[in-house]
Amino acid sequence: MGITRTLNVDDILARQDSGDLKRRLRGRDLVGFGVGIIIGTGIFTLAGVEAKTHAGPAVTLSFVIGAVVAGLAALCYAELASSVPTAGSAYTYAFATLGEVFAWIIGWDLLLEFALGAAVVSRGWSGYLANLMGLPPEWFGEDATVNIGAVVIIAVLTVVAVLGIRESALATNVLVIVKVAVCVLILAVGVFFIKGSNLTPFIPPAHPAEGGGSVLHQPVVQAGLGLSQSVYGLAGVISAAAIVFFAYTGFEALANLGEETRNPRKDLRVGILGALGICALLYIGVSIVLTGMVPFTDIDAGAPLAAAFDSVGQHWISALISLGAVTGLTSVMMVELVTIGRIGFAMGRDGLLPKALGTAHPRWGTPHRMTIGGAVLIALLAAFVPITELSDMVSIGALSAMIIVAIAVPVLRRRRPDLKRPFTVPLSPVLPIVAALACFYLMLNLDVMTWIRFAVWLAIGLAIYFGYGRRHSRLATPTDPSSAPRS
Ligand code: ALA
Repeated sequence: MGITRTLNVDDILARQDSGDLKRRLRGRDLVGFGVGIIIGTGIFTLAGVEAKTHAGPAVTLSFVIGAVVAGLAALCYAELASSVPTAGSAYTYAFATLGEVFAWIIGWDLLLEFALGAAVVSRGWSGYLANLMGLPPEWFGEDATVNIGAVVIIAVLTVVAVLGIRESALATNVLVIVKVAVCVLILAVGVFFIKGSNLTPFIPPAHPAEGGGSVLHQPVVQAGLGLSQSVYGLAGVISAAAIVFFAYTGFEALANLGEETRNPRKDLRVGILGALGICALLYIGVSIVLTGMVPFTDIDAGAPLAAAFDSVGQHWISALISLGAVTGLTSVMMVELVTIGRIGFAMGRDGLLPKALGTAHPRWGTPHRMTIGGAVLIALLAAFVPITELSDMVSIGALSAMIIVAIAVPVLRRRRPDLKRPFTVPLSPVLPIVAALACFYLMLNLDVMTWIRFAVWLAIGLAIYFGYGRRHSRLATPTDPSSAPRS
């Protein structure tokens, strides 16, 4: 059937310097991009929500668990990204190792992660902006029929993303500095308002969910064991870890910039591991400060950090935090748009999506068609769909891609032991297997509804693959000499 045909790694590497995308990024741009996409709604909103509803002060522990799982996956990404630097990242690694249908699934899944992520974040951005500038909630808030703010910000950022990768990097670096400065300010001032009594008990005792809870909103692992839904306790800490995993998603985006990085073999691993490390430290610090300042039951679910500083009379810090959230969320969307362009570009180049998407603009050197197409889809979602619930979809999308990446590490080592690997995951295959199992365990802690939505998205994707991609794949057209099927 050909659905497990694979791309030849040498072909992938040979295509790198076709000159389509321009090598303009340095290592520190990558760290900037990474922090730019990682820090966002996860820490500004979800940390507070999860402390209040699932984990109490132990939300800090949820962030530590998330950091460990993301760190394991990042090691696997770093090995593949530095040995096969390519615009398609996980999608291309799967194409080189597991086969075309897996590659398609992962590409489709990553498009979901980044499109939905950008849509969620643009609505959050709009809400914070309304808050900061007193704009009318009927156009900018979560109840807006058409969320104008979300559409406008997506449109503006799309122009920047299409104009060029250097411009996107410059814009991101400026926004990142403001965002990191705000996080440091939260730590430096907040630490003086921590009360030990707010942090005990660290893990609030488990108790049954109000009204018994619906099975659709219960983590799969509990529903599967026939347990009744409860909140807090250790189970609450782990389900909060699955949800706040959203906060770490995004570092994978760096792996898509392999064709635009000057020295990808070194800079990619510095970017991925460096950005993730910086964010993990900031998250752990900020969540200790937040839960130390306010009893977890009193945390404001809308703007947790700003409200915490208001509650101790520090109104100017609260205003600065809102400003930081607006800036922070802008860079998340920026990098997500850039990433969607690169993944679609790689899929178009391989023929699994229309080939026109796999060409870069002759002057700007960016995958403009895919970036604009993706942006239209994001703007439509962001304009009309109240999507706060769907942030879990981003986590499930990211975690499933990470499982495939982890499996691809030992597979590629067996298949191509000769490949130059500037960075290797220690203890392979044990560590990649542990990484895959840890990601799967977190997925099992997401709720039943999230799994159902994810299954529907994958079913639509498979229908498109069998209806279009399989026949149009460059591996299905023997006229291209560089694309002889390998299996
Ligand atoms: N990690 C990003 C955030 O927290 C998506 O907003």
